[in-house]
Amino acid sequence: DWTMEKFINKEIERIRNVVGETGKVIGAISGGVDSTVAAKLMHHAIGDRFHGILVDNGCLRLNEAKKCHEMLTKNLGVNLEVVDASEEFLSKLKGVTDPEKKRKVIGNTFINVFERKALEITEESGIHIDFLLQGTLYPDNVGGLLKDMKLKLIEPLRELFKDEVRALGTLLGIKEELVWRHPFPGPGIAIRVLGEVTAEQVDIARRADNIFIEEIRNAGIYREISQAFAALLPVRAVGVMGDQRTYEQVIALRAVTTVDFMTADWYDFDGKFLRKVSSRIINEVKGVNRVVYDVSTKPPATVEWE
Ligand code: XMP
Repeated sequence: DWTMEKFINKEIERIRNVVGETGKVIGAISGGVDSTVAAKLMHHAIGDRFHGILVDNGCLRLNEAKKCHEMLTKNLGVNLEVVDASEEFLSKLKGVTDPEKKRKVIGNTFINVFERKALEITEESGIHIDFLLQGTLYPDNVGGLLKDMKLKLIEPLRELFKDEVRALGTLLGIKEELVWRHPFPGPGIAIRVLGEVTAEQVDIARRADNIFIEEIRNAGIYREISQAFAALLPVRAVGVMGDQRTYEQVIALRAVTTVDFMTADWYDFDGKFLRKVSSRIINEVKGVNRVVYDVSTKPPATVEWE
């Protein structure tokens, strides 16, 4: 009968057979549970012949690249390189306001950066890379952004559902905080900065988001919520500080509960909690003078604002 331990051993064996004695594998790491679990499994199977790449697109959460690098290399022993492509992404996003256009720009830039990095690794080592690791789960659409690269796909999680990936991650020694992390969209904060994406706007959104998530964790309700984030609205609102009038931006907080993300309900925080988050954001994040809470269900609203 099926056990997770048997699955791990079987999958490690399979990876070794496919990759061979000298084969090299690359894979994109996002900091989420799927790619982290896939990378850790790969590390078990072939050690440093797996080369993880984390592309910093300039729209990641606060200190995300650094935290993710530390977790994967120090805690999990995975060979991981962070490629800081923030400037490239932000310059491509200049003037782009349409949500789908943002997704396209980010997707295309990601492919360019990743392919360039893969070539660089090949040239440095003189060893050809044959395989691409993808953390695709059973319910995911096969492929992903990098499916057109001329690399053979390795998908160790392809038979698993999310709850099984979490169980696997726990068995592999990945810490609970990461195993139960909320999903985060590929385009990142770019689709949570409504309107044009600039480094300054991303910075405001990510600082507000960080306070919100920190308070959710402190309140012990992180696991009750399926996904939570802050979005920066492209409007200015009038406010007052001392005897000065202010004219600054608005943060919208969103937190939902859902089973499958096809429908979602907004999370019923208590007033005290919202009061604390709101006052922290307004006091600590320069450029924001108003915080609102999104009380829309999906449908008709979506989880993300863009
Ligand atoms: P929506 O906004 O469609 O979100 O209700 C449902 C779930 O999908 C995530 N999402 C994305 N994930 N790339 C991603 O990788 C995207 O472009 C994207 N758009 C939405 C969203 O965060 C939520 O978990």
